[in-house]
Amino acid sequence: MRNSIRFIHRGVVVELEDFAPYATVLDFLRLRVGNMGSKEGCAEGDCGACTVAVGEIREGALRFEPVNACIHLLGMLDAKVLLTVDDLASENDVLHPVQSAMATAHASQCGFCTPGFVMSLYALYTRDTAADRSTINDWLAGNLCRCTGYRPIVDAALEVLSASHNQPNIPDSVMSLLQDLQNEDDIFTGDEKKFFASPSTTESLSALYEKHPDATLVAGATDVGLWITKQLRHIPKIIYLGRVTELKRLVEADAELEIGASVTCTHAETALGHIDPDIAEIMRRYGSKQVRACATIGGNIANGSPIGDSPPMLIVLGARLTLQRGNNTRTIALEDFFIDYGQQDLAPGEFVKSVTIPHLEHNQSFRAYKISKRFDQDISALLGAFRFTIENNVIVAARIAFGGMAPTPRRASTLEQSITGLSLADEKRWPPAIDALEQDFKPIGDMRASAEYRMQTAKALALKALTEVAGKESTQTRVRGHREDKFESAA
Ligand code: FAD
Ligand code: FES
Ligand code: FES
Repeated sequence: MRNSIRFIHRGVVVELEDFAPYATVLDFLRLRVGNMGSKEGCAEGDCGACTVAVGEIREGALRFEPVNACIHLLGMLDAKVLLTVDDLASENDVLHPVQSAMATAHASQCGFCTPGFVMSLYALYTRDTAADRSTINDWLAGNLCRCTGYRPIVDAALEVLSASHNQPNIPDSVMSLLQDLQNEDDIFTGDEKKFFASPSTTESLSALYEKHPDATLVAGATDVGLWITKQLRHIPKIIYLGRVTELKRLVEADAELEIGASVTCTHAETALGHIDPDIAEIMRRYGSKQVRACATIGGNIANGSPIGDSPPMLIVLGARLTLQRGNNTRTIALEDFFIDYGQQDLAPGEFVKSVTIPHLEHNQSFRAYKISKRFDQDISALLGAFRFTIENNVIVAARIAFGGMAPTPRRASTLEQSITGLSLADEKRWPPAIDALEQDFKPIGDMRASAEYRMQTAKALALKALTEVAGKESTQTRVRGHREDKFESAA
């Protein structure tokens, strides 16, 4: 058991024993070290002003991800490298190529958003490939500029990233320090009343959580971070799940995909896309690069949000959840996990271990659509997911679920029944069958959408899904995405 966290900042190992469990990386930078380059804008993961690059060794290589320091907990940095905008220029003030390009393209109007843009581009720069405009836009979706300065910023990014570029110069000494920090220690800092703990095995996690069922589990902190910065909660006991080896595992088998609860959205995206391109497309629109680098599939399920993006899709695919408490595990259908608003089927001391997702059968078609006010970096107003089993051009079984229509992500069982038996050649019968949705849900209106809008749009999504799987020409309505030009005919 270790009583400290250790990470690399400014080329040296920082070891901390004494820090508040709820301290953020931005607190550490601005209040403890006095590095003021990283800014606090929104303090809720939305604006990107606080973006830093966090590097860790994955499959033998150092990999940087952009991270929102405002909601990232300090304790999560163990065995990683922290790089900020204060660290990019060389000791004699020679700017990093990303910084030079920003300056040359007049891409900076203020000191608030610029550090975040630079760090997102820096993280992209560390990838080995040249980036095109669409990739750059994707990487910058989590960075807001209020001065409408995006054109020169993207120009700067294209200038420095569209051609091949040298990899960032991480000194060998830093790499060797980082190698030395890799470990499988259980970490416990603080005391029994107030601690940040970071177990590395499922056994130590379950024992600790059984002992402290009042502790808060933290995976990516993209929800919990906001409890700290927006609700000003001083969470006394935190158990971080990001170092538990078993929870970080992703196993892609022929028949199903198993995703450990601490696997991040970024890590899961490709494997989910192998089930169906629509899932990858929705994951691409999930928050921003910074959010996806941290948010986990387990957290997206466990928080029980009615508007989480993954649950409706996983429910229609027939996903199963494995839960663990002490030495006991149990498996339940994901749809049974969501009991009511804010109420999940989790006993005290029990945690989500993994989710197992069956692949589609050859005669099944899947569709999923996210409706939000902004294309990127926005929570869903509505998300509809559909799986149709089709034989001889007839829907012989349907699984349909929505987010944003009820207090939990939920199946539309009446609609499923009324759609079953429909012929894909008989479009006239579709709209009356879809009206059955009114018996499944009485949606509420809120700032994201009115009740009427939700119902009308949910019906439209059902119609769109049927039209697409029937292979109708008129359905090429997508902006851009993983499925583009891949409308298949019904089986
Ligand atoms: P955490 O914040 O670490 O935890 C969330 C909750 O789950 C906590 O109650 C925690 O105790 C519990 N928990 C976590 N892991 C486990 C486990 N293994 N077992 C039991 N309990 C557990 N969500 C979307 O769905 N779509 C979006 O587009 C989206 N955009 C966002 C944009 C921004 C800017 C932000 C800040 C958030 C966004 N979110 C979005 C919400 C958030 O990212 C998700 O809910 C996220 O998946 C939470 O995962 P996490 O790992 O960060 O969870
Ligand atoms: Fe806005 Fe962190 S301050 S994302
Ligand atoms: Fe900073 Fe636009 S230049 S907000």
